Amino acid sequence: VQTCALPILDALEAIRVEALGRKGKLAEVSKTFGKLTPEERASLGKLLNAVKQELESNLDARKAALESVALNARLASEWFDLTTPAPGIRPGHLHPVTQVQREIEDLFVSLGFAIMDGPEVEQEYYNFDALNIPPDHPARDMQDTFWLKDGRLLRTHTSPVQIRALEKLGAPLKMIAPGRVFRNEEVDPSHEHTFYQLEGMMVDRDVSVAHLIYFMKTLLSAIFHREVTVRLRPGFFPFVEPGFELDIQCLICGGKGCPVCKQSGWVEILGSGMVHPAVIESAGLDSTRYTGWAFGLGPARTALARHGIPDIRILYDSDVRFLEQFAR
Ligand code: DAH
Repeated sequence: VQTCALPILDALEAIRVEALGRKGKLAEVSKTFGKLTPEERASLGKLLNAVKQELESNLDARKAALESVALNARLASEWFDLTTPAPGIRPGHLHPVTQVQREIEDLFVSLGFAIMDGPEVEQEYYNFDALNIPPDHPARDMQDTFWLKDGRLLRTHTSPVQIRALEKLGAPLKMIAPGRVFRNEEVDPSHEHTFYQLEGMMVDRDVSVAHLIYFMKTLLSAIFHREVTVRLRPGFFPFVEPGFELDIQCLICGGKGCPVCKQSGWVEILGSGMVHPAVIESAGLDSTRYTGWAFGLGPARTALARHGIPDIRILYDSDVRFLEQFAR
């Protein structure tokens, strides 16, 4: 049992020693016994014993009371409930980029699209040639990548899945293809060498730009849960004609200019366009019969725009505590 080191208990002990100790007040009185008659000695002895007993029992009672107050205080402050369930393992959550990807998947599945996959180590044919990017085309320089010794490469975009999906499923086709892509790229606030894309494609009879615009509007309002200002620019991609760059007004600076939008006020969210007839033909389909639209989007940039994160790099190399704020 731990004794209570309360100052008041020390004070009480000092009082006990002073009154009842061997050199205490009562002992002093006892020293006068020798000068007394036997009768006086007997009655004084009795009296002293009574006083001594009374003092002792009072001091003991006081000490017990103080100790129980101290013990109760400890019990109150150190109490805990042994029967409370343990907090358990902290649950994880999806990465903000994965959240965007899953939401887009849910949306397109609800619209009747298939979710397709393609290899990250891709053949040159699917990554470039079949997408109307011949060997000497400058678009190959813009998508410099990592090559394997056997001639394959790390895919630079998810667009090769367009060809694979058309070859496998034919037309009509509605599909999206999320996945990881790679480029030999200088890393900066909006570029990573390894990143994600999400491809979408619809091929059928009589598909027009009107369908493309409808699906892009549906997509963007689902992602941002609000009105976003968008801008369509003509954009060149060899596998679409016409091609468009779809930008949203920067949600971080509201269009004033910041590092994410490279001071332009606009963030490229996706590339899109009407599938080039050469691509339809590459997949073995009749381009006079089928038309289509396609888009390619960056889920990480979308996540940055949605959460107001100013630098793409912190999505991938930051402490997990940074990511925890995006738990859902
Ligand atoms: N593959 C293009 C890129 O990585 C993005 C893209 C643009 C995809 C236009 C498309 C599209 O499907 O129609 O830069």
